Amino acid sequence: MKSALIALVLCACLIQPSKAQNKESKKLHFPKGFLWGAASAAYQVEGGTKADGRGPNYWDKYLNPPYNLAKMATGQDVNGDIGINQYDRTQFLKDVKLIKELGINSYRLSISWSRILPEGTGKINEAGIDYYNFVINILIKNGIKPLVTLYHFDMPLALEDKGGWMNRESVKWFTDYANLCFDKFGDRVKIFLTFNEPSIEMFFLQTLFDAINNRQMPSIPASEKYISEHFAHIHHLMLAHAETVNLYHKKNLGGKIGITYNFMLCDLDTITSEAGKTSLNLVRKAWNNLFMDPVFKGSYPQELFDRLKASQYGDIKAGDMEIIKSAKTDFLGINYYGVNMYHEKPGAGFFGLVNGKNPDKPEMFNGFVNPAAFVVGLVSLKNQYNNPEIIITENGAGYGETDEKLENGKVNDALRTAYIQKHINAVHEAIQKGVKIKGYYVWSMFDNLEWIMGYSRRFGITYVDFKTQERYPKQSYYWYQSFLREQNK
Ligand code: BGC
Repeated sequence: MKSALIALVLCACLIQPSKAQNKESKKLHFPKGFLWGAASAAYQVEGGTKADGRGPNYWDKYLNPPYNLAKMATGQDVNGDIGINQYDRTQFLKDVKLIKELGINSYRLSISWSRILPEGTGKINEAGIDYYNFVINILIKNGIKPLVTLYHFDMPLALEDKGGWMNRESVKWFTDYANLCFDKFGDRVKIFLTFNEPSIEMFFLQTLFDAINNRQMPSIPASEKYISEHFAHIHHLMLAHAETVNLYHKKNLGGKIGITYNFMLCDLDTITSEAGKTSLNLVRKAWNNLFMDPVFKGSYPQELFDRLKASQYGDIKAGDMEIIKSAKTDFLGINYYGVNMYHEKPGAGFFGLVNGKNPDKPEMFNGFVNPAAFVVGLVSLKNQYNNPEIIITENGAGYGETDEKLENGKVNDALRTAYIQKHINAVHEAIQKGVKIKGYYVWSMFDNLEWIMGYSRRFGITYVDFKTQERYPKQSYYWYQSFLREQNK
């Protein structure tokens, strides 16, 4: 998702060489009860988009004619109708075997809102509820705790047509949907996430969909103007998060609820002027703090608003900030891939920054690989947000063809394997520096539909032949499996 998108964020981190990069594979000690997992998202894996009364979401619109977004981006004329076929229960049962054999104790999945509420609100689709009960129960039966994301880029089309997040009603739509999920699944699911990557939803997807509706290719990254004009939808989403957290706690279901961010570490590709450094700071704030501060500090970043000088308070009504402040989010979720590189170009791009050069060869799809920056970034989150509990809800890599050759049933994805190993070491290092990290989930358990990039980008530790739906664990799967065996000794 991110490389298609271009810019990303956070913390004033100096990138220094880290022990994480060199550590030997001797046993690392992680806290007791640490969650080891792998992750997925409904639209990327389920398929069955028209099965058993599911309603369409915005992808069903934009990946199909007349928009054909994946075709526009990659030439592949594809959509999520098949995904990796997990709506098929026989397929899911086979997949659970691989999940179990991997040795993880948790699996992250998301619920498709329009599978259980085809119109987004109102009438419940019992077949959808049955499907998620099946998935949740089978995971639990196999000793695997489900971590459930309520919203992973998944707006029901009926609601998108009413303005989606731009409509203040979205706060209620979402809270009602979350309420239904808590009632139906909250007895067994003990870890929930409200949103996956709100900044991608807002700055990338909404920009993209707006532009496509006007039949134009969007200019990404989002501009300052875009943030100002669309601040209302950011605020609605933040309010929906707060209301949902309060609702969850009121229900006393005995679990935890968090939100997950794409942790946008960013840096400049060349030594730059003071103005460039100021811009970098603003870009980091826009990608990260704009979404993290309301949840973990109860306010929006003033410095950014001052700079935007816009309708920033657009839809903040009396009482909203009190609701936002009152919600006690149990943990901060982090998705991290790589550092986003920028180049200074005064007057252009995002606060005067445009895409920069990634020094890696070969390049990973989602940014400059830098586990040391990850450690520094995690420590900065600890310091900025009063040492919250953190779960790494996604970390993984895709390098393309050279790392994905299926030969005699085997895929020697050496680059991904090294990447995962280095980042697990980085997580360990951050824990030693006092960051309260409670879990780590690889993205992804299986190759799947990479949104507008279609099936052209593989991130899985399990290879999927998209024609036959055969699965082949890659070298990274076997490495993770043996690492977990060591952990359990
Ligand atoms: C998203 C996933 C995506 C992954 C790889 C994350 O931004 O949450 O849905 O597939 O990155 O690009």
